[in-house]
Amino acid sequence: MDIEKLIAEMTLEEKCSLLSGADFWHTKAVERLGIPATMVSDGPHGLRKQDEKADHLGVNESIKAVCFPAASATAASFDREVVRKIGEGVGDACQHENLSVILGPAVNIKRSPLCGRNFEYFSEDPYLTGELAASLIEGVQSRNVGTSIKHFAANSQEHRRMSSDAVVDERTLREIYLPAFERAVKKAQPWTVMCSYNKVNGEYASQNRWLLTDVLRNEWGFEGYVMSDWGAVSDRVKGVHAGLDLEMPASGGTNDARVVAAVREGRLDEKDVDTCVRRILTIVDRYLKNRKPETEWDKEKQHALARDLAAECMVLLKNEDAVLPFAKEEKVAVIGQFAKKPRYQGGGSSHINSFKVESLLDALEGMSGITYAQGYGIVGEEPDEALIAEAVEAAKAADKAVIVAGLPDSFESEGYDRTHMRMPKCQNELICRVAAANPNTVVVLYNGSPVEMPWADCVKGIIEAYLGGQAVGGATKAVLYGEKNPCGRLPESFPYQLEDNPSFLSYGGEGNTAVYNEGVFVGYRYYDKKKMAVRYPFGYGLSYTTFAYSNLCVSAKSMDDTEKVKVTVDVTNTGNRAGKEVVQLYVRNAPASVFRPVRELKGIEKVELAPGETKTVSFTLCKRAFAYWHAQLQDWMVETGTFGIEIARSSRDIVLCEDIEVRGTKALPQEPVSPDSIMMDLEKNPAAMAGLQPLLTAVQQALGMGGNEEKSEAASEAVTEDMGKAMMAYMPLRGLASFGNGAISYDQLKAMCDQINAQK
Ligand code: BGC
Repeated sequence: MDIEKLIAEMTLEEKCSLLSGADFWHTKAVERLGIPATMVSDGPHGLRKQDEKADHLGVNESIKAVCFPAASATAASFDREVVRKIGEGVGDACQHENLSVILGPAVNIKRSPLCGRNFEYFSEDPYLTGELAASLIEGVQSRNVGTSIKHFAANSQEHRRMSSDAVVDERTLREIYLPAFERAVKKAQPWTVMCSYNKVNGEYASQNRWLLTDVLRNEWGFEGYVMSDWGAVSDRVKGVHAGLDLEMPASGGTNDARVVAAVREGRLDEKDVDTCVRRILTIVDRYLKNRKPETEWDKEKQHALARDLAAECMVLLKNEDAVLPFAKEEKVAVIGQFAKKPRYQGGGSSHINSFKVESLLDALEGMSGITYAQGYGIVGEEPDEALIAEAVEAAKAADKAVIVAGLPDSFESEGYDRTHMRMPKCQNELICRVAAANPNTVVVLYNGSPVEMPWADCVKGIIEAYLGGQAVGGATKAVLYGEKNPCGRLPESFPYQLEDNPSFLSYGGEGNTAVYNEGVFVGYRYYDKKKMAVRYPFGYGLSYTTFAYSNLCVSAKSMDDTEKVKVTVDVTNTGNRAGKEVVQLYVRNAPASVFRPVRELKGIEKVELAPGETKTVSFTLCKRAFAYWHAQLQDWMVETGTFGIEIARSSRDIVLCEDIEVRGTKALPQEPVSPDSIMMDLEKNPAAMAGLQPLLTAVQQALGMGGNEEKSEAASEAVTEDMGKAMMAYMPLRGLASFGNGAISYDQLKAMCDQINAQK
């Protein structure tokens, strides 16, 4: 495609027509010039390709496809390879089905456990989210199919998602809500980005030039096109100028006509339209050139892959008395409707029409000693005595009981938020009663976001499986029976109760205004700072084997922030089973002039180790690992200090630590000196202190200080030297001058300040 030639040949109307979809899922064609339509489709943990009746809420059926584990689950793998493999599988399916772009990954940060779409999102941590998103993108795009990382930006709630204004200070945006996008763009260059519905600091994301052009393109170097979320466009003309290339879905031509009129009336530069067209056609062309409809889509093979990957994601939260793994000879009571009919994905636009589903009971078929009781119903919350009694009987007659529980579809979905963090009453009651009947009870959870676990102390085993995709049953069996050694870690903190969550006081907002009051203290950044007990911390997860860490080496004890540091550590499997360990590297922040979290995740590596085997894991850290965003400097800032390099099993279990001195090479901005400047700030500014010497001397003389005169005992007791210094620290210059008995007038002081400022 000669894109420049096409742009030159197209009429303004034709160009503007390309800036919105032809229908729900297609870009427009310009037949006269041989530009074809291309199709995009939802996902991204599978294909949701709708054929005839299109809608974006998942109401109408889509083609039969393979449902891989959702992002909530894959994040728990802490494994780039797991996510990359899903991307490759989905990419193959896209080629087979003639899809140019799959609409994902979804990378919004889990600010609260209440967000209805948390099951589709990765984590409360931006580093983990960004790394995994980049892997998904690399996987899909290795098949020459595009991705659309979404929803850009600050779309961390479903409540009023199309009208809410996320009011977030810039430092918080830069450190928490934007870095996953930034990392993915810089590392994997997604073909497209999808903007969110909400406003960000007063402007709809779909027409927010700061987001779509200044940050995304000019700072991060994004090269593809930006499309709107479905129906997210408010002012299309403003959007074109802001950098929103494609409006989705179709606007019935009305917005295209508005853009034409704006150009004709001189309110919009035609060059802006050309830029959008160029970006869209570049991606269309890339897809067309690399089409491979003959690509095989082996669904059975992908089902087996989905099972293996789901097992990689399961998090063993509790295993008292080694209740797990089960032995084949044991009699096991399998309880819970989810054991028969698993909840394995969430509702809304990511909903996949699975070509088959494998439940735990399916996976256990043919094994002896298995009994099943339903335990609870999925509709309605109230406990059903008959179902509970049947489950209790089954549990009594067995060696061990496993209850498959979690959240029903109605509890969490795209389009609305949860109002609480509880599981249905009937399930909580069932778990308590079964645990009382059989001391060897294990709970497996199928849910998309954290739940309160009032029964956690009553059961011996807990597995968090999240929403594990269509083969979740086989994966559950593999972990229960030790065919797979669990190796997932929690990608989010599990608080005891919703009220503990840092966003609790303001989540959802007042009317259309959602102020992100907790700032950068999201998830473990808050719980760790508060030293607050949590049910399970970020990064936590057990194994059937044990690991030991040794030989933490940091390549430099001290460095400039322009340098890099290499960190290595040895990990040994000290148990008698092969297993995988997730090595987590946190940086413990040095004291700074802004509030900072205690520690932040800056590296993850997953290693597989045979019994007795040792491997060396290495990480490289650069400036960003130590920096915070300085809004005034509009840059990343490292303040010189002693940071900790922490190797950890979770944010609460630091195994090894080495200190490192990092020198910031950029100075903090100096405020101009004025009569209102206070001493403690001036003392950090040697040039100012030198310039102020006449004043300081005059004051000392007037107060009779500086000499060796004796103070009375009473005077020394009333104001000790330390107290005097501390009080003095907050003294403005004008106050100090007033102690000088008029030796320095206000005007003289002002002149002194001006002179100091002029020297800079
Ligand atoms: C969702 C997007 C989705 C789109 C198309 C929107 O409502 O927010 O994630 O890709 O619909 O279905």
